[in-house]
This record gives sequence, structure tokens and C-alpha cells, in this order.
Amino acid sequence: MKLRILVTAGDGIGPEVTHEAVAVLKETAALGGHDFTFIERRIGGVAIVADGTPLPDDTLKAALESDAVLLGAVGGNEFNSLPPDKRPEAGLLKIRAELGGFANLRPAFAFKELAVNSPLRPEIVDGADILFVRELLGGLYFGQPRAWDKAAGRAWNTMAYTRDEVARVARIAFRLAQGRRRKLTSVDKANVLEVSQLWRSTVNEVAAEFPDVMVEHQYVDAMAMHLMNRPRDFDVVLTENLFGDILSDESAVITGSLGMLPSATIGGKVNLYEPVHGSAPDIAGKGLANPLGAILTAALILRHSGGLEAEAAAVESSVRKVLEQGFRTPDLARGNAAGVTVLSTKEMGAKVRETVKEQLLATSR
Ligand code: NAI
Ligand code: MG
Repeated sequence: MKLRILVTAGDGIGPEVTHEAVAVLKETAALGGHDFTFIERRIGGVAIVADGTPLPDDTLKAALESDAVLLGAVGGNEFNSLPPDKRPEAGLLKIRAELGGFANLRPAFAFKELAVNSPLRPEIVDGADILFVRELLGGLYFGQPRAWDKAAGRAWNTMAYTRDEVARVARIAFRLAQGRRRKLTSVDKANVLEVSQLWRSTVNEVAAEFPDVMVEHQYVDAMAMHLMNRPRDFDVVLTENLFGDILSDESAVITGSLGMLPSATIGGKVNLYEPVHGSAPDIAGKGLANPLGAILTAALILRHSGGLEAEAAAVESSVRKVLEQGFRTPDLARGNAAGVTVLSTKEMGAKVRETVKEQLLATSR
């Protein structure tokens, strides 16, 4: 397998966590005889300082010539006084738009060992494993008309979808469900919104192409509750843009730590992979950052850009294993006591690599 991966580490803890994710990818490539090339470019605050813009042309060009983009995080307090279109975050929004991915994948899963970090009871979250597929380029965030008429004291946004926009993201969700537990929950508000009625009828049409996947529909308000009461009942959850933004953040409590969560945006010209967390300026440069979200993001590159399911699963089970062995970064160590060893960013990365190596060597024997 040959992959050309652009690494845009960005700001704050971005470089620290992506370094560990890249190291895991290199280890995996070496063990499986894969040919991964890594190219590094600037994005965010570091690019503003060096190039005068949060997304230099050179970075965008390299992204478009790659098979996958791994992004760390952008943002820093020193840029907060800049106008929105000049800030590091503008670089992130621009690269997302240019790459054109319309399906945002956000897994939410429970780790037994981290149950103490979740506000939900262990018997509720244990075993939960959900994959959110959020439509990312349509719906309320992009619909026209939109405006704030200050003089009139009135503002409006538009939630709009076409049948094709719904069908293309639904197909991705159904295909992903086929590779998992074959259940798809589509979220809408079809009892009130016409756009949700279109959503539901299109999902039902697409469902006919995937008779092996069980489909259910949930209203978004009820779904917000079901996710907290019975998260184990869900496999792939398909949502429009706004509903997915809210429900996927809500479901982060299942995992219990922001530092653990990966994401992928697929369907466009080049897939974009990023941990969910930001640049965490409060802990940057101190070796305190949790690299597991970035490492689990690397697993998504293996799965969705490399088609390397066994390797992706090995990385994910290695993360599980180091947690079982009691290793934690400081953000995860909260509330833990006996049997817990607190590691730095680099030490945690090394533990995962060691375990990935053991697992891949064991399965190839
Ligand atoms: P944040 O996610 O950077 O941090 C929130 C809290 O979680 C902080 O206390 C931080 O120390 C902790 N945290 C986050 N990731 C961690 C990790 N891997 N290991 C250990 N602890 C971790 O969000 P915040 O503070 O709202 O934003 C900070 C900057 O990041 C801002 O400039 C913001 O705009 C930017 N940001 C960038 C994102 C991106 O690049 N995708 C996403 C969210 C925020
Ligand atoms: Mg959000």
C-alpha cells in the first residue's frame, strides 16, 4: 500500500500529538511493508507568523496532491484579537472547504478503564461503540438566505438540503454500517420540518440499496436522550449538519475525555483527518498532551485512506491495551489511583507503538 500523507501539525499541542500519530503510522508501514510518504506544511498560527496567512497556497497545493491530510490543531491566544478571516481557525475552515469532504465521521466509544472520567454510570456506557456520520457541507450552516438585519431587529438562517446531498452522505453511512454491526439510525425532526421529511424519505430510498442494514429513524430531541440512556443500542448514526454537531459533542461524554477522540472527513477530493480537540495552549510544549486522539485519528487514515482494516484495528486495540495496563496521560489520570502510571506525550506514544508492534507481529505469525 502506497500513501502520500500531508501533515499539517499546526499550533499548540498539534505538533506534539501529530508527532506521535506519525510515528505510529511509520511503525505500521515498516511492519507491513507499506510505502508511506510524509510531507510537512504549515497551517494556522505558525503559518500566520511565517507566511502571513493561516493557509498558505503551498500548503493547499500539497494537500490536493496527497492521499490524506493529517491535521493537528490550530489556534493560540496571541491571535484572538485578529478579525475572524485572519485568524488561525480561518485556515482550518478553508482547508475543509477546499478539500470538499461532505461526510464527517466521529466515533464515540467507551473505554472500561476511563469510565471514571465519564459522568455516565459504567454499566450504561460500557461496550458503547457509535460512529456518527454528520453531513458537513449543507443544512443550516450553509443554507441561503441568511442574514442579521440589525435595524429591523431580525435574523434568519435556512435549513436546506437537496435529495442528492442527502443520498450521497446516506450511502457512505450505509456502507460503513455494512462493515460494522449493520444498524443505521437516521436522525431528523420530520414531525416538524419539511427538510427532515425530505431527509427521511431519501434515507428510506437509499436503504433499499442496502437490504442487509437495519434502519431506524429517531427524532433529534429523543435521540439526545437515548444516547445518554442507552448508548450501546446505536451503531452508525446518520445526521444532518447541525444535529450532528450537537449530538457528537454530547456523545463525547461517553468516552470521557476530549483528548481521546478522532475524526475523519471523507467524500471530497482528499480525506482530512483530525483529532477533535483544539490546540490546548494551556498545556502546550510541556509534554502533558494526550496523543491518543491523534493516534486513533491515524487509525482512521489506515482504515479509510489505506483500506488497511487489520492495521487500523491493531492500533485501536493497542490503545485499549495500554489503558488496560494502567498507563495514562495526566488528563486521564484524574480520579484514578492504584495501578495507574502517568506518562508524558512521548512515553504514551512509545507504549502504543510497542503494543502495535507486538500485535502486528503476533497476527502475522
Ligand atoms: P481545546 O480542545 O484546545 O482544550 C480544551 C481543554 O481540554 C483544555 O483544558 C485542554 O488542555 C484540554 N485538552 C484538549 N486536548 C487535549 C489533549 N490532547 N490532551 C490533554 N488535554 C487536552 O479547546 P479550547 O481551549 O476551547 O481552544 C483552544 C484553542 O484551540 C483555541 O484557539 C480554539 O480556537 C482552538 N481550537 C481548534 C480546533 C481545531 O484545530 N480543530 C478545535 C477546537 C478549538
Ligand atoms: Mg462542535
